[in-house]
Amino acid sequence: PLPPPFEVPLPLPAVLKPVSKGAREDRYEIVQRETTAEILPGLRTRLWTYGGTFPGPTIESRRGRPVTVTHRNELPVPTVVHLHGGRTPAESDGYPTDLVTPAGWPTTAHGGDTGHGGHTGHGSGGPAGHGSGGAMHDPKAVTTALTREYTFPLDQRPTMLWYHDHRMDFTAPAIWRGLAGLHIVRDDAEEALGLPAGPRELPLMIADRAFAADGSLDYPSLDPTLRDRPGVREPYVAGVLGDVILVNGAPWPVHEVDAARHRLRLLNASNARHYELEAVTEDGRRLDLVQIGADQGLLAAPVKHGTLPVAPAERYDVVVDFAGVPVGGLVKLVNRLGSGRTRDVMAFRVVRKAADDSRVPSVLSTDLPTWRRSDAVRVRDFSFRAGRMGEDDGHGWLIGGQPFDPTRSDVTVRLGDVEIWRLVADVHHPVHLHLTGFRILSRGGDEPLPHDGGLKDTVSLRPGESAEIITRWEGYRGRYLFHCHNAEHEDMGMMANLQVT
Ligand code: C2O
Ligand code: CU
Repeated sequence: PLPPPFEVPLPLPAVLKPVSKGAREDRYEIVQRETTAEILPGLRTRLWTYGGTFPGPTIESRRGRPVTVTHRNELPVPTVVHLHGGRTPAESDGYPTDLVTPAGWPTTAHGGDTGHGGHTGHGSGGPAGHGSGGAMHDPKAVTTALTREYTFPLDQRPTMLWYHDHRMDFTAPAIWRGLAGLHIVRDDAEEALGLPAGPRELPLMIADRAFAADGSLDYPSLDPTLRDRPGVREPYVAGVLGDVILVNGAPWPVHEVDAARHRLRLLNASNARHYELEAVTEDGRRLDLVQIGADQGLLAAPVKHGTLPVAPAERYDVVVDFAGVPVGGLVKLVNRLGSGRTRDVMAFRVVRKAADDSRVPSVLSTDLPTWRRSDAVRVRDFSFRAGRMGEDDGHGWLIGGQPFDPTRSDVTVRLGDVEIWRLVADVHHPVHLHLTGFRILSRGGDEPLPHDGGLKDTVSLRPGESAEIITRWEGYRGRYLFHCHNAEHEDMGMMANLQVT
């Protein structure tokens, strides 16, 4: 029994309170635990959560003010926390074998009981001091800890990040069960712009899910215990789609708004579903989606879109003006790539006329990197393609012809270097780099698309397409990753190691 569209109120994830606010940093604690929630009316759904809710609590931070989050795992399997888009030292970046293990989970000889990110483990895994990165990290070491302290310096442009599970081979089902939350970074310069704020700033985590008749989440894992065998059943190897569209965990919700500008901070947290979003009034009029920011923060200047493609893991910061909509009117956010019920995403009900002193300045930021082709000291090529697929081999998605192997060294880059990467895809692959933001130089040998501007951390390669991106390696040395963010592709091998030296 699916609820009718646009009746469930839009939930807004609670903002997490720090357990302590020091002179220099804020400290948080999150317990990862199972819970049940009513997502579909009258049914209970068992979830894996950060702190008891899906989405997890939102962390609100200031640029350059470090945040420490201690995670404890009370779930039945190990987990890994990654702050997507964070410029984070390697030992806190959530490498897929740096596990937070539940009590009683078998650990190896020196497996720790409690420890700090990267500090507890076995073999030569630690200690890797803060900021020193993973250079001392034994690539074969699985590090385990009952609690793990992740430190995020957040010395980066303000934007909306998200945190999610990243365990080797089992990321997709863990995110599907609920392990995802938002992390917003702010600064004074952005706040001085006068963009819509307070109740007129809405974080929107969009994710599709499939449910069984009893309300449980339906995911086609080969091993439903998520302990041993990775991968999904054969018909789902291209990616798992759901027929229910959730926004902030609610199915096709509605949100009451003033007839004024609103800032929508969009995240596609779906495992595999792509969206092409459009805001339409009941009489079929399309409202502009005025893009002000990309994955890694504000654009230089606003860009107006009629429709906006959003691939898994991408964030788009847009302003929509409801001023012209009559009181009582409904504005639907629809997915032009969907059909039937998956075409609807959510709606806004305009409930009152209201003053609006917000603005969208014509200059949003002046600090975007301006790397030119001639700055690049190296060009690298990577293909993102399917290999042999089969249930006997959970690793059929390949980068450069190879499935992920945490013990192999794939790419070594030098801190400070500017590089161009040429990426080519067979089918749709949203490619994500850890640690760094990049700019899109070209698509298919042509100009980037209108929504490709600004600083990105995920580029959506369309079927058969190639793209060039340019970045400068900045931040920290150590072992990082790049991968496809179709979560099933990622679990099935489409990930590679990125060593920063
Ligand atoms: Cu959002 Cu490596 O991930
Ligand atoms: Cu992919």
